[in-house]
Amino acid sequence: MKLISGEGKKRIEWAGRQMPVLQLIKQRFTQQKPLRNITLGACLHVTAETANLMLALQAGGAKVALCASNPLSTQDSVAASLVKDFGIAVFAVHGEDKKTYYQHLNQVLDFHPQITMDDGADLVTALHKLKIQWEFYGSSEETTTGVIRLRAMERDGALKIPVMAVNDSDTKHLFDNRYGTGQSTVDGMLRTTNMLLAGKRVAVCGYGWCGWGIAMRMKGMGAQVMITEVDAVRALEAVMDGFLVAPIKEAVLWGEVFVTATGDKHVIGIKELLAMPDGAVVANAGHFNVEFDYEGIKKKARSMRLLRDNLEELVLPGGKKLYVLGEGRLINLVGAEGHPAEVMDLSFANQALAAEYLVQHAGNLKPKVYVLPKSLDQQVAALKLKAMGIKYDQLTAEQKRYLSSWQEGT
Ligand code: NAI
Repeated sequence: MKLISGEGKKRIEWAGRQMPVLQLIKQRFTQQKPLRNITLGACLHVTAETANLMLALQAGGAKVALCASNPLSTQDSVAASLVKDFGIAVFAVHGEDKKTYYQHLNQVLDFHPQITMDDGADLVTALHKLKIQWEFYGSSEETTTGVIRLRAMERDGALKIPVMAVNDSDTKHLFDNRYGTGQSTVDGMLRTTNMLLAGKRVAVCGYGWCGWGIAMRMKGMGAQVMITEVDAVRALEAVMDGFLVAPIKEAVLWGEVFVTATGDKHVIGIKELLAMPDGAVVANAGHFNVEFDYEGIKKKARSMRLLRDNLEELVLPGGKKLYVLGEGRLINLVGAEGHPAEVMDLSFANQALAAEYLVQHAGNLKPKVYVLPKSLDQQVAALKLKAMGIKYDQLTAEQKRYLSSWQEGT
């Protein structure tokens, strides 16, 4: 493969081309400077798509510092380009160890950011260990797991700042979690193994937004798909969508390939991992690498070796072999490049609007988890459709009247 000179900058440019909504926001930000004189600290996957968000925030007048939300998803060429070509402070190196990861988070906090942006709530958690003695507007959160952590902090009275749950915007989770995770998880698993999916028995744990997307794409590639769930409604949805549904104890006896997307812990425990057939492949697409018990199974393994990038073979007691992808970390980011830029366009449009919202509503927000107004969802979706060249209908005045009236039945 040829080395590309200025690779990071070109990656950023290519991703930017697929992010028309963010570009429109960037243009407006360039003119209006809604983030003038604001210092913003972000803890996100350091990818070409995130780079475009950082550039939009910078165009809006913000001074930006960025660190990674996952040590294995950092694209070093992108990080280098952000520093060299765009003057953005970046603290992230692909594969950094835990200590360096947290050091980098603290280096971003050393900037005394007035707005923070998180993917998993690690930066907010670190921020809460400090005394915030500077003007602070609030934070925004990208993913389901982060929102769950923040709501738990709010419930326990531990949350000290307002947070915008960007994940909860329809134009985020309906598209990013479903289509983004769906496609890129399959992509990551294929790049890591190069296995054939047609005819494979694939068990997907969790039928939320991410699990739904993964199951749909696996089915599209010809796999037979089984779902495991703990929520009756979601399990029923999976049944009616045409999937097999079974408890994990049974799924491990049936499947050849397993992928978790629950936001939960030890959904596949040691007992289940040991019960899997010889040659089973296990991956995770959920935020933390605790969804299957990777640490536990490593202790049980007789031996381990790396067969390909991100593909470990564990020889279990009794001789069965288990193949673990990406050390149980988000396989779409570790084994591939995360979500395609087209879908991050929507998520990051919401992030940029969340930063603007925090400034516009400064002083009026409480230490709570907020969602962005639904009107912004409509705005983001309308801009995306426009960029895609797709027209859609508008309600007539008569229809608006009819839909808001309780008197008119016919
Ligand atoms: P969700 O809340 O929509 O779905 C999670 C589902 O897992 C729920 O239906 C829940 O009932 C189910 N579940 C929980 N415990 C379970 C268990 N023990 N067995 C079977 N099912 C169980 O959440 P969403 O948005 O699908 O996110 C899932 C995870 O993926 C989160 O950690 C989130 O942060 C992460 N995520 C990862 C992305 C990626 O790029 N890989 C992108 C977006 C989210």
